[in-house]
Amino acid sequence: MKDAVDSPARFPDGFLWGTATSAYQIEGAVNEDGRGESIWDRFSRMPGRIRNGDTGNLACDHFHRYPEDIESMKDLGVDAYRFSIAWPRVFPDGSGAPNAKGLAFYERLVDALLGAGIEPVATLYHWDLPQALQARFGGWQSRETARVFADYAGFVASRLADRIGRFVTTNEIGSFVDLGYGSGVHAPGLALAPRALNQVRHHALLGHGLAVQAIRAQGRSGTQVGPAENLVVAVPALAGEAHAEAAERATRDWNAGCLTAMLEGRYPAAYASHPDAPRCSADDLRTIGETVDFVGINVYGPGRYVLAPDTSVSADAPASGDALASGDAPAPGHASGWRVAPFSRSHPRTAAAWQLVDPSSLYWAARHVTRLWNPPAILVTENGCAAADDPQEDGRVYDTDRVAFLRAYLAQLRRAIAEDLPVRGYFLWSLLDNFEWADGYDTRFGLLRVDRATQRRTPKLSASFYRQVVESDGAAP
Ligand code: FCB
Repeated sequence: MKDAVDSPARFPDGFLWGTATSAYQIEGAVNEDGRGESIWDRFSRMPGRIRNGDTGNLACDHFHRYPEDIESMKDLGVDAYRFSIAWPRVFPDGSGAPNAKGLAFYERLVDALLGAGIEPVATLYHWDLPQALQARFGGWQSRETARVFADYAGFVASRLADRIGRFVTTNEIGSFVDLGYGSGVHAPGLALAPRALNQVRHHALLGHGLAVQAIRAQGRSGTQVGPAENLVVAVPALAGEAHAEAAERATRDWNAGCLTAMLEGRYPAAYASHPDAPRCSADDLRTIGETVDFVGINVYGPGRYVLAPDTSVSADAPASGDALASGDAPAPGHASGWRVAPFSRSHPRTAAAWQLVDPSSLYWAARHVTRLWNPPAILVTENGCAAADDPQEDGRVYDTDRVAFLRAYLAQLRRAIAEDLPVRGYFLWSLLDNFEWADGYDTRFGLLRVDRATQRRTPKLSASFYRQVVESDGAAP
């Protein structure tokens, strides 16, 4: 195994090295060219919801500065750029009449990317739901939102699929449902009971499936489409096939209400028979399980450590199958064949309190997804590191922690490639320091530092590092 990590592996031809961002986190210009209000505009105005009272009103002003940001991507040498389209720019009221000026921004962006030799990869929903849909029917609480999402997705495909070859439907259903409708720390800030929450997740999955169908119906033939999910990754705590298999089973169980349902077209039995399971029809499940061209995985760290069920490590380790990270129905661990090794309190983290570190989580995510569901392709649609990023006396940021993090995770990506796992691209989160949701601007993930007062972009040490990675096609992490 060690050899596989250390020896250079050839990345497949056409492997995409990219960076990623999302609309609300970077664009600003929230009132320009007829953009409608989003749930994040509304949420970030509520006192106490966002650290330091930050909002996305200006963000990185990417709406105006996109040519400069594309220049930065050219300097990095990336092949591709994953961005998101703001639904309320294109349909200010969520549905009805499209706003030509809103779409025109994305046409300018895509044309400029293509002119720079950078492939655009567009996400259709990265959390900025039109506020009008929240007001009209409670957003994703209603299946109507899934229906109008598909209309919007089909419309965008009809206008842009001549220039965009890959669409991501939804970004992290697992996150925006639980954080937005469960704990309420993200927009729209609701705290629903488990049954209602599972129903919201079901509607979001349905939105994904309907969007896949709409994009295929209205886009150019051959357009690739898939979801991006931050699956809960079970990492085997010890070496050996028994632990690896236990981790694989646990990954299927923990993602029961989300990625497992999408890729199997059904909810696993333990989830479907739970009293809080969502109401759904066989038709819904067929739609949710619509075949995809790739699976996007957003991997930041380990979800849980897992052991084979009969491993005894310490007498007081909790039984497996306790509260689940993504709100899924508990599955009995022993019956499923895994047990949890709880996180140590001192487990390493990045500058974001939620981000636990283990580079091998990237390898295991790719391996579990391949073995469980065998998708035609996997794209790492996000991976990145939060860092303090204090500028030094020379004004530069030496983000040695981010470089070390990326080096270690990319070595694990190379391991995945060496084992022929079908990973076809890697999108580093993020190009720029940006609006990190409830954490505001203080949590930084960018390769480029953004000075909030002047909007000046300054490449960090990690930008030089990533340029070397891209230049050497992954041989030099
Ligand atoms: C992911 C989100 C992305 C960004 C990173 C740090 O969960 O998809 O928008 O906030 O985390």
